[in-house]
Amino acid sequence: MPDAPIDTDALVLFGASGDLAKKKIFPSIYRLEERQRLNGMPIVGVASSPWDDPTMRSYVKESIEAKHPTDPAVWSALEPRLTYCSGDYRQDDIYGQLADHLQGREHPLFYLAIPPVLFEEVVEGLARHNLVEGAKVVVEKPFGRDRKSARELNDVLHRHFPEQSIFRIDHYLGKDAIENILVFRFANTLLEPVWNRNFIAKIEVTIAEDFGTAGRAKYYDTAGALRDIMQNHMLEIVALLAMEPPVSSTGDALRDEKVKVYRQIRTFDPNRVVRGQYRGYIDEPGVEYGSDTETFVALQFEIDSWRWSGVPWLVRTGKNMPVSATEAVVEFNRPPRIFFAGDTTGTSPSNHLRFRLGADPGINLQLSAKTSGDRLATHPVDLEVTQDALFGDSEEPYERLLEDAMEGDMRRFGRADATDEQWRIVQQVVDHPSPVQLYEQGTWGPQAAIEMGQLYGGWHDPKRE
Ligand code: BG6
Repeated sequence: MPDAPIDTDALVLFGASGDLAKKKIFPSIYRLEERQRLNGMPIVGVASSPWDDPTMRSYVKESIEAKHPTDPAVWSALEPRLTYCSGDYRQDDIYGQLADHLQGREHPLFYLAIPPVLFEEVVEGLARHNLVEGAKVVVEKPFGRDRKSARELNDVLHRHFPEQSIFRIDHYLGKDAIENILVFRFANTLLEPVWNRNFIAKIEVTIAEDFGTAGRAKYYDTAGALRDIMQNHMLEIVALLAMEPPVSSTGDALRDEKVKVYRQIRTFDPNRVVRGQYRGYIDEPGVEYGSDTETFVALQFEIDSWRWSGVPWLVRTGKNMPVSATEAVVEFNRPPRIFFAGDTTGTSPSNHLRFRLGADPGINLQLSAKTSGDRLATHPVDLEVTQDALFGDSEEPYERLLEDAMEGDMRRFGRADATDEQWRIVQQVVDHPSPVQLYEQGTWGPQAAIEMGQLYGGWHDPKRE
């Protein structure tokens, strides 16, 4: 498919001296330049660090080189277009500087890679300097702290930007393996007839990391696993697994279906939530004394729809788990007792479809096959597809999402009504958190979470990636 035209004519990155810019956004900008997708547009970094253009350029170069070597020709085309504005987001001066940098530009893209408490300040500052007309805005997660603040944030954005110019980022939506859930479900007629309560016994999703806060404790302590992963990444995966086929592939058609599923998800019940905290968390620099922030959360919920009624959904996410893995496991009903299996007393195990959505993406389908020899006994076998082996390296999520936003393609971004529903789903747990239970690092969380899984036949632990 030919590349879509990009009408964005300047890229402005708020939070240019921050961690996200360094690790993800600058390397993505470089790759877009390499693919000649930036049309010679200026890239303006904005932050409070007292830098000048040369400081920003060497920072950008370092951040790109930390990922891969730079091609001198690509870098020399990009470097002179990188400029920098510094100051306080609460003062007008910084927006005045920015207006000078953007002279003659009609469609800038403002990327807000800054703490959410500053969003309003920045959006109002841009509006006061007449910089919002014709512009687009990309907003990083977390989108608000709860339903009320997310609504306020939407109000602020809508005061100055139409919904189709607002791009709420969730980088999981830029991952091929996650988008593949949709394609796998709706491009294979084999699956649709069994994708419902008549054939599926339960669905589990695990987002696990084998490391802790990785130097981000100051931010993480204000968020916790519920706000950092559950309200956004986890619910996006759930929506792709549960939604009905969209009427077309437009951004609104896809998001209409997601919102429908969210509306059918019962508000999470605080009595069916286990919050955990790994031992040692409270001693990390940046964590508040006596912090009650959860580094793990597991819960069970239902979806009230004809497709899903009665199917238990179990989801969990945590830091300092035994492995890093993101997996969704669809467990089908067990077959009836196998009369031909000689002396076997039970039934075959159920079939599982396992979507591996993390570092080693792919799909496994566990079926039962005959063991060798005389008897008609069964043994589980795995059919496996590895995404990298089939399709090679995929684009980095941030590269794809940045390009989408510059093209105005909304399919992989959150819509106001969807974020509102996501917050509605988690709000009771935000308001009435159960106390955190400690767990040892390198385990699957508190015992209560393991017991919660056992009520439904036990968790499927992901394989080491
Ligand atoms: C981010 C969270 O959104 O996602 C982090 O803030 C988390 O806490 C990260 O580590 C996980 O992303 P990925 O792509 O490595 O699974």
